[in-house]
Amino acid sequence: MSESSAFYITTPIYYVNDVPHIGHAYTTIAADVLARHNRMIGRDTFFLTGTDEHGQKIQQAASAKGLTAQQLADQTVENFKRLWKVLNITNDDFIRTTEERHERVVQHIFSKLLEKGDIYLGSYEGWYCVPCETYVPEAQMGEGNTCPDCKRPLQKMTEESYFFRMSKYQDRLLEYYESHPEAILPKSRYNEIVSFIKGGLKDQSISRTTLTWGVPVPGDSRHVVYVWFDALINYLSALGYPDEGGKWRKFWPVCHHLVGKDIIRFHSVVWPALLMALDLEPPKMVFAHGWWTVDGDKMSKSKGNVVDPFEMAELYGPDPFRYFLLREVPFGLDGDFSERGLVQRINSDLANDLGNLLNRTLQMMTKYRGGVVPSRVCPTKLESSIRAMGEDVTAQVDSLLERFAFDEALKAIWSFIGRANKYIDETMPWKLGNEGRGEELDRVLRTLFEALKLSAQLVYPFMPDAAARIWSQLGLDGQVGEGRIRWSFDPIPEVRVTKGEVLFPRIDVKAWEEEYAKRLAKRAGADTDMDYSDHEEEVTIDHFKRVELRVAEVLSAEPVPKSDKLYKLELDLGYEKRTIVSGIRDFYRAEELVGKRIIVICNLKPSVIRGVKSNGMLLAAESPSKSNFTLGLLTVDRDVPLGSRIH
Ligand code: ME8
Ligand code: MG
Repeated sequence: MSESSAFYITTPIYYVNDVPHIGHAYTTIAADVLARHNRMIGRDTFFLTGTDEHGQKIQQAASAKGLTAQQLADQTVENFKRLWKVLNITNDDFIRTTEERHERVVQHIFSKLLEKGDIYLGSYEGWYCVPCETYVPEAQMGEGNTCPDCKRPLQKMTEESYFFRMSKYQDRLLEYYESHPEAILPKSRYNEIVSFIKGGLKDQSISRTTLTWGVPVPGDSRHVVYVWFDALINYLSALGYPDEGGKWRKFWPVCHHLVGKDIIRFHSVVWPALLMALDLEPPKMVFAHGWWTVDGDKMSKSKGNVVDPFEMAELYGPDPFRYFLLREVPFGLDGDFSERGLVQRINSDLANDLGNLLNRTLQMMTKYRGGVVPSRVCPTKLESSIRAMGEDVTAQVDSLLERFAFDEALKAIWSFIGRANKYIDETMPWKLGNEGRGEELDRVLRTLFEALKLSAQLVYPFMPDAAARIWSQLGLDGQVGEGRIRWSFDPIPEVRVTKGEVLFPRIDVKAWEEEYAKRLAKRAGADTDMDYSDHEEEVTIDHFKRVELRVAEVLSAEPVPKSDKLYKLELDLGYEKRTIVSGIRDFYRAEELVGKRIIVICNLKPSVIRGVKSNGMLLAAESPSKSNFTLGLLTVDRDVPLGSRIH
């Protein structure tokens, strides 16, 4: 056992603006495997997950649905809780950032650091990305002031803001990481973070005056606490910090944060600096796993390729889904989810390897020994070597899971399962049975029983249901996850196996292909990304008449320098020529535009865009789907003179 018997594992707390998908399932399943494993090897384990419910993103998603932010949070949180039940997640607590027990701690920490001088009032100007809830430095902005991550437009904001004096902790952070090379995994992320810190840390804005949906800053009700500052604190508030009797006394700092690579900086720069300010130790390890795509594509609702974890669990069972996510891709790397790959693994690894081992063993035990496990056997070298391999694999799994190498742990377990299957082929117990070689048969059957007992314990953290079913078919007492029971060739009291339902039924691939094709077609037809929430206030006909719309012909179109979205268009209105700038370059080639008759707002106040004076604006229809965005220009359906008014 390692130096401490306490083990605290967390997932990110997920935003409640949307339904859970496989990305969320992935992190939470991984954390569950570690929690189950650590409980099994006797560590005092605490596993936390929850939801992040404040901030502008939630506020906006709620408004779009005609709900209050609290209502949206209350609805969405149920989806997460339900998914964790379906996937057999054994979290010990579930924290919501709107809970009183959390908000109280956020305010406590804020006041404490304000008093200490590590928080101060200043002002902030910058480009803000609402979907990502983060400011983007100018140097990192994309073309046309867009977010480098989600590519959506940024908003310029100036705010009075409280700041956390993060710069003060730069040296201490570096020292910490230099002496704790395993505090950030995988190594590539460690290097990235260390060089980021070396590049210099700025103080971090931690309050907002532009919204009200957040924890009020104590003593200054104009501000709410910035959602990330609020969110990170969940890892402490859920442990009852700073109460004397709180669990944090036992579990801090034996804390392992599992996160996606998208939020590694918050967890390994801002968060440890904050903890240092509170005189608490930084987390023991932050592990940033990779990103899932689907069949080579980014997941998006309009592509219809978002993998629904509820659907996967229902179609294939929670165990195979859990197994597949962790077996398929090394934990720190990006991965591609393919349902076909899942089906293949079910048939080969689960039905064929593990399922068959159980099936063959129980069949022979029933046929030759009336289901009773042979008690008195004398192992030969062969059996001893299989047992030694089992012990070796167990030790490997323990050390691989220490550094979250799930796929390697599973490979090691499967090498053992493969060995046990081969042992059956080598010893041919059916032959021993038919030839009446009882002593040898007993030896083989007992060895297989022990091998299956071990396999059940090894797969338990990954596939708790399957492990429990193996356990009960083997006729063993208690729960498989209760603790490790060692391999034994010693005499045992009577154990009677019972063949139950097939562990992992084989999937008929041909039938599956047909069903899958149908499902894909249905999904592609249902474009669920449509957003029709941008309705405007009622206007009168007079309002409309004040907008002067006319028909114009495009004379020329040329790219605006240093921009990849904009065209400079020369237009002929019949009575005059004019120039407008328009951001339609992604959608039209210049030569397609020339000669087109389009509709222009003529009395729009002129503006200068990228150094070009734009005198008017063209009209275009924009699709309501953001992720599958298209655009079409308005035009006239028969020949009317240039300059004709639109009524
Ligand atoms: O960031 N592949 O919440 P969030 C792999 N509230 N993992 C994925 C994924 C994908 N395609 N998509 C999401 C937040 N994830 C904040 C966290 S913590 C104090 C606050 C997983 O709902 C992955 O773990 O956007 C990622 O870090 C997390 O979901 C982001 O969840
Ligand atoms: Mg996110």
